[in-house]
Amino acid sequence: MKLLIVDSCISQRGADSRTRKLLNAYVEEFCRRHPEAEPETVTPETLLALKPFDPAMLNDRDALAAVGAWEAPVFDLARQFRGADAVVVAAPFWDLSFPAALRTYIEYISANGLTYHYESDGCHGDCRAHRLVYLTSGGDVEREDSVGVLYWRQLCAMFGIARFDYVFAGGLDLDPAKTPALVDAAADLARKLGGED
Ligand SMILES: Cc1cc2nc3c(=O)[nH]c(=O)nc-3n(C[C@H](O)[C@H](O)[C@H](O)COP(=O)(O)O)c2cc1C
Repeated sequence: MKLLIVDSCISQRGADSRTRKLLNAYVEEFCRRHPEAEPETVTPETLLALKPFDPAMLNDRDALAAVGAWEAPVFDLARQFRGADAVVVAAPFWDLSFPAALRTYIEYISANGLTYHYESDGCHGDCRAHRLVYLTSGGDVEREDSVGVLYWRQLCAMFGIARFDYVFAGGLDLDPAKTPALVDAAADLARKLGGED
């Protein structure tokens, strides 16, 4: 059972990142519940090193896809994502969504012919995971239709991942006295999700 951890906890708080607290709670409980789990992490450093696609890179990737060269390094992250049994993505709420490095990661995993494909009736997902959990924390309270949450929900539909859950730890920068309790409550929710099949 492969658990893919997409750790986009890029934070000035380092190890005290609030988002990472949610991630740690989720992974701890997931691994307790699934002792056979093999966690694999995409680190913040890996994400930050990704170069957004430019036209030449897209042409190269299309040429590889056209001959089915899915083993090429440009598809490494997409193959890893495709083969995971469960996925957890953690990212702080930045500028109403999430850090740009995570958006770039989405460009790499969105590989037509590998993680999804088109048929006459539209897009079909080709990923193995049965569920994806998105964990985020924000300074403001959670608003309806939060872009990061909507985005990952729609990506799940595109990749064929049936179940989507999320935790939004909101309001963390409003009253410092209340922050620890809000983070703890959100971590409890993340832990609960980690214990569900
Ligand atoms: C670059 C940046 C952009 C942010 N943008 C938002 C925002 O649009 N809305 C919001 O509510 N909080 C925003 N915040 C606050 C963070 O979401 C909040 O402090 C979060 O808990 C940080 O998580 P961390 O402790 O894991 O770094 C932003 C913080 C940073 C550093």
